[in-house]
Amino acid sequence: MLSLTLTGLKLKNPLMLAAGIMGTTGGSLKRVAESGAGAVVTKSVGAAPKPGHPNPTMVEVDCGYLNAMGLPNPSYKDFQEEIDIAKEAGTPVIASIFGGEPDEFVEVACGLCPDAFELNVSCPHAHGYGTEVGTDPVLVEEITKAVKSAVEVPVWVKLTPNVTDITGIGLAAQQGGADAVVAINTVRGMAIDVESGYPILGNKFGGLSGCAIKPVAIKCVYDLFKTLDIPVIGVGGISDFRDVIEFVMAGAKAVEIGSAVGNNINIFNEISSCMEAFLEEKEWTLNDIYGMAHEV
Ligand code: SIN
Repeated sequence: MLSLTLTGLKLKNPLMLAAGIMGTTGGSLKRVAESGAGAVVTKSVGAAPKPGHPNPTMVEVDCGYLNAMGLPNPSYKDFQEEIDIAKEAGTPVIASIFGGEPDEFVEVACGLCPDAFELNVSCPHAHGYGTEVGTDPVLVEEITKAVKSAVEVPVWVKLTPNVTDITGIGLAAQQGGADAVVAINTVRGMAIDVESGYPILGNKFGGLSGCAIKPVAIKCVYDLFKTLDIPVIGVGGISDFRDVIEFVMAGAKAVEIGSAVGNNINIFNEISSCMEAFLEEKEWTLNDIYGMAHEV
C-alpha cells in the first residue's frame, strides 16, 4: 500500500533515513534498513578524511537539536565497503557526498557504487562546502551536471533553506539534470550559555533540526512542488505519521527522517503502520494525497 518508485528506485515505503544519523557504518545503515526504512542515506563523505569541528558539536535545544559536526568523515576511499554491507539488507542505499567544486564531487561520485547519490550542497557550517556552494545557482547547476554525466544512478540534490527563495536553487539543480531535490537541510542557528556568555557549539553556530523546523520545510516543499517538474523529497522535523502525511500533501513524493531516529529506531515501522491505518480509514491512497494541499 505504501510502496512506490522514486527516481527509478523501488521503495517499500516512502520513509528514508536522512543523512547524518546512523549513517557512518554499513552495520548501522543495515540495522536501520532492517528496522523498516524504505531507503537509507549515508553520512556525507568527501574527497579526503576530515576531522570535523571541535566539540561540542551537538546540543539539544527547545524543539530540536543544533549541530555543527563539520562534515567529519573518513573520505570516500574505503567507504564502498560500508555501502556494500548496508546493501545486504536489500534496501536502496543512497550515498550523500560533498565537495567544493564540480571536479571534487565527480572524484567522490566515481569512487562509489550506491543506488543513488545525494549531493550535499547545503551543510550550513562547513567552510568551502555546503551552503557556500549551494547558495550559488550557477555552481549548483554545474555540480549537478558534472555528477550526472559521470554516473549512471539517480542524482538527488539536497537544498539549503538558508536562502531567500529556495526555488531558484531547486531550478538550478533541475536544469543541471537532477532526478530529485531533497528539502531541507538544517536551518542556521546558535545557542549561548548564559552563565558564561560563551557560544555553546565549538563552531559557535550550527544547523537546527527537529520539530522546530517542520513548518519551514513544509513551505519549502510546497514551493518546490509548485515550481519544479522533478520529485521533491521532504525532510525536517518528522516525528510521527501525521508529519509525513503533511509533507506528502505539500508535495513530497517521499520523506527522510533524521533527528527522531535518534530516540527510536522503530520509527519507520511505527509510522508505516499508522499511515496505512490512516489512509485506509480515509479511503485514500498515497497517490491521492500527493500534493493535495495544492488543490485548494
Ligand atoms: C555536518 O556534518 O556538519 C552536518 C552535515 C550537514 O548539515 O549537511
